[in-house]
Amino acid sequence: MRLENKVAIITGAANGIGEAAAKKFVAEGAKVVVADFADHGEEVAKNLGDSARFFKLNVTDKKSVAEMVQFAVDQFGTVDILVNNAGITRDAMLHKMTDEQFDQVMNVNVKGAFNCTQAVYPILKEKQYGRIISTSSVSGIYGNIGQTNYAASKAAIVGMTKSWAKEFGRNGVTANAVAPGFIKTAMVAAMPEKVIEKMEATIPLQKLGEPEDIANAYAFLASDEAKYITGHVLHVDGAIMM
Ligand code: CAA
Ligand code: NAI
Repeated sequence: MRLENKVAIITGAANGIGEAAAKKFVAEGAKVVVADFADHGEEVAKNLGDSARFFKLNVTDKKSVAEMVQFAVDQFGTVDILVNNAGITRDAMLHKMTDEQFDQVMNVNVKGAFNCTQAVYPILKEKQYGRIISTSSVSGIYGNIGQTNYAASKAAIVGMTKSWAKEFGRNGVTANAVAPGFIKTAMVAAMPEKVIEKMEATIPLQKLGEPEDIANAYAFLASDEAKYITGHVLHVDGAIMM
């Protein structure tokens, strides 16, 4: 029970990695706001019992984000942990990528994490305690074919995380990122089969990751075991790009 008495907001928690994280955090004793655009989050929260509540969130909408933070405080009294996990892809080769595809991805993946962190930080600062965990990607560290927009957004997560670590350290708040490799969720299922096969063949551990592999990393970084770790990017990727 490494997260007992802690209140966590997990964005994008209705599906995939975020859903696994919500389950893990509740199992570790946390109260969790399952924050997602998808209505299915209601069911995810219900299945987690009294320790979880659903909030229908659009991370790109500052009003929605502010209401979510107030909801967390009303339901559970405070916020200790924010997991900036919500993210989207709009893959295309550069010559075919539209401005809309570029802007959508930057808006959700970068502006969304900015909005949520900006809204939560005053509470953490006041408490002189807190954890910000954001989701980067192997694509943001090493680049990836067809992902100019997404790779830029996930590299931005690294830059923001390191800036936050420097800015928030004096107030007892850590900021870290997790950079997953290819994980079995809807996001990877949408890739062309031949590309998945190519990828899988290059992974030393010879398989895709499970959502729980990333949820475990989030839980570690959220726990007191990680209290002297900040500004770090934890690669959880089967060493795909070692
Ligand atoms: N790695 C290696 N090769 C790739 C590749 C990749 N990521 N993406 C495309 N290719 C290759 C294709 O196999 C193809 O090779 P051949 O010419 O030898 O057949 C070539 O590039 C052109 O690809 P397409 O014929 O598919 O071109 P398209 O214009 O129809 O589609 C695309 C382009 C939309 C980028 C499509 O190829 C695609 O969806 N690729 C996958 C992109 C990808 O890796 N996305 C990751 C999604 S999961 C995620 O984002 C999570 C995370 O953080 C890692
Ligand atoms: P997913 O597509 O299964 O889940 C993403 C969730 O984010 C969905 O529930 C969706 O409704 C929500 N979401 C999207 N836009 C939103 C918005 N504007 N406001 C609120 N919620 C929104 O994806 P997955 O795979 O679980 O990804 C989770 C995170 O992990 C993302 O940031 C993704 O970029 C990152 N990631 C995923 C990898 C993978 O291989 N699956 C690898 C590396 C990083």
